[in-house]
Amino acid sequence: MADQAATEAVSPSPKPEAQSPDAILECTGLSRDFQSGETTLHVLRSVDFKLYEGEIASIVGSSGAGKSTLLHLLGLLDTPTEGDIFYRGRNITRLGQEAAAKVRNREFGFVFQSFHLLPDFTALENVMMPARIGAGSMQWMREAGKLEARAVELLTRVGLAERLTHVPSRLSGGERQRVALARALMNEPAVVFCDEPTGNLDSKTADEIFVLIDQFNKELGKTFLIVTHDEHIAQRAQRHLKMTDGRFVPA
Ligand SMILES: Nc1ncnc2c1ncn2[C@@H]1O[C@H](COP(=O)(O)OP(=O)(O)OP(=O)(O)O)[C@@H](O)[C@H]1O
Ligand SMILES: [Mg+2]
Repeated sequence: MADQAATEAVSPSPKPEAQSPDAILECTGLSRDFQSGETTLHVLRSVDFKLYEGEIASIVGSSGAGKSTLLHLLGLLDTPTEGDIFYRGRNITRLGQEAAAKVRNREFGFVFQSFHLLPDFTALENVMMPARIGAGSMQWMREAGKLEARAVELLTRVGLAERLTHVPSRLSGGERQRVALARALMNEPAVVFCDEPTGNLDSKTADEIFVLIDQFNKELGKTFLIVTHDEHIAQRAQRHLKMTDGRFVPA
């Protein structure tokens, strides 16, 4: 507690620009507290982190270490208590809702353990959804054909050319995660955040998902940040990090 107070006392004031031109995404002094009744939970404790352009970085750590919290903050799904986040040198920490949604939609992709697919939509419709959300109605009318072709190409890349019209309930877990991966890439994001992407899959299927991530990294230059409990997947990333109790510790 005293330690945390000391950290907060010396927290730097918000900086307009990132210090590191080599990082595509960077956070400095990032903290997230949650209130639980009278108690304040210091879930992230002044975290400094850089994600380098073109890399696959993995984060492991025990349950409750703060991995998902960090991922949500970096992906602008949550707002920090303290600290700053920079994307390509721009401070994106406290954007308004609309501006944050635009960054999320255009620059970031997300893959979650439980897939988060829309149950009533086909694989193809699910993959097209980020484009549909991001485009205005005029743009959608103009470009729907082109965007559908892109979604078909992505689903073909992940091996689902024969499953375009299947709804999620007619797909296996591995196939659902392939759809989620294709959806994450639909708007050609620079960074893809994966939170336990193989958590619901057997080890062979998990490996297949990692092979696809690796291909998207190598062939399309996408940067991946993967949170995982699977040491085998973590070790296949190019850089390995470990969190304990809201901080990075030596891996
Ligand atoms: N919205 C919230 N309100 C209160 N506490 C929260 C909230 N979200 C997360 N926490 C707490 O923050 C801590 C870290 O949660 P987080 O989900 O980041 O852990 P994690 O490292 O991803 O764990 P796991 O490996 O189990 O997914 C946990 O103790 C959790 O209970
Ligand atoms: Mg988690």
